[in-house]
Amino acid sequence: MAKRPASFICQICGAAHTRWQGKCESCGAWNSIAEEATASDAVPATLRGGRRGRLIALESLAGTSEDAPRVRVGISEFDRVAGGGLVPGSVLLIGGDPGIGKSTLLIQASAALAEAGHRVIYVSGEEAVAQVRLRAERLGLSGAPVELAAETNVEDIVATLAEGRRPVLVVIDSIQTMWTDAVESAPGTVTQVRSSAQTLIRYAKRAGAAVILVGHVTKDGQIAGPRVVEHMVDAVLSFEGDGAHHFRILRAQKNRFGPTDEIGVFEMTGLGLAEVANPSELFLSNRDRGAPGTAVYAGMEGTRPVLVELQALVVPTSLGTPRRAVVGWDPARLSMVLAVLEARCGVKLGAHDVHLNVAGGFRITEPAADLAVAAALVSSLSGAVLPPDSVYFGEISLTGAVRPVPHSVARLKEAAKLGFVRAVAPAAKAAAKEPPETPLPVETVGSLGDIVASIAARGPRRPAREREQGYQEG
Ligand code: TYD
Ligand code: MG
Repeated sequence: MAKRPASFICQICGAAHTRWQGKCESCGAWNSIAEEATASDAVPATLRGGRRGRLIALESLAGTSEDAPRVRVGISEFDRVAGGGLVPGSVLLIGGDPGIGKSTLLIQASAALAEAGHRVIYVSGEEAVAQVRLRAERLGLSGAPVELAAETNVEDIVATLAEGRRPVLVVIDSIQTMWTDAVESAPGTVTQVRSSAQTLIRYAKRAGAAVILVGHVTKDGQIAGPRVVEHMVDAVLSFEGDGAHHFRILRAQKNRFGPTDEIGVFEMTGLGLAEVANPSELFLSNRDRGAPGTAVYAGMEGTRPVLVELQALVVPTSLGTPRRAVVGWDPARLSMVLAVLEARCGVKLGAHDVHLNVAGGFRITEPAADLAVAAALVSSLSGAVLPPDSVYFGEISLTGAVRPVPHSVARLKEAAKLGFVRAVAPAAKAAAKEPPETPLPVETVGSLGDIVASIAARGPRRPAREREQGYQEG
């Protein structure tokens, strides 16, 4: 038989190429292509041969399938993101930077489930049993009846799982360390990761156990290798945060059994991850109330309102092309707000550097933050301090109009709960017959020009020394 040619597989996106090349044409990554045995080697002989297909029964949509009961882990921030708990037979991929706390989160989840009387198996391919034990001890979870193994061979793992009582949860930490006998490629290659994941997914569906796969993420935010696994699993969660802050956010990117806009907020403490039930308090804890350029944005993450502080710094540029630096928001969206400010309100920012930061390292994805961003920018440029007891939200259109955004009542309620006394927002949609009772007085703005005028009218902040001496202006 002729020798099967090797293929060259991109280790990031999994695209196959006929020869080695420096750049993957499919995903644009450099130096990501490695030689591997062809994937068709992994196909069982029965499929390669001319076997006649077995007849399968076709069913109707309306049939009675019992609704899979979800198993609550007992960590409510986790359960909410998972869509209300783990679905038996489903496979979840949790991605995140190394060191972000994935193993910590999962050992805590495993312990919580095991303590509730469920069988939980935790397989670590990265750490020895002693290391996992040491961490559990530090977290005060040594007493939980979690069954541990340090193993990387998928066939051995699946054989072990098939023994004894069916587990409710199996954690595989991480999928990159797993390898299967079925393919010849080295562990960690796309082919290995894909085949290992396939085997584990097949196990999950057959046995009805929930399987959580851990996947490490590369610098550009893609789950390395396991990106090819994303479409195979039922849910993809990402665990985010940065080294400078203690809080971590669990976000659903794909979920076949739940919404994808929920977040779970945790704080990394000396005793593991603690749930943060009220994230707004955390994000607003270190506010500088008297400084120009800050505005509090009343945002929504899924079904939950989250208040965060936006900080803008607008300074004359010393460069030919002014800088636009954004942390925590979409840079394209900032460019749009700047263009609208310039074109519709005459606010000239072409000779200024603009820095925008979402306090606490939070990341905002909603366009509803437009109005708060514009307010922070104008406040920084004019030196006028915004009222510290106001929140802002609203979407800005290219015409300069401020558009209503969904869930305004939930946003206002959260702001009222945290002691804010006023909101600056667009008028609610005219469709509502009676204006709903608002928990906070709303100063409605119809256009961006309104808010620019009202901030400019506040005038720049007087230097602190003058205020202390009680100088009167004019
Ligand atoms: P880990 O769960 O090992 O991260 P991952 O599995 O995503 O690579 O978390 C490691 C980090 O978490 C490590 O830098 C130390 C920190 N940490 C704490 O701050 N407190 C704790 O109680 C634990 C267990 C870890
Ligand atoms: Mg880990």
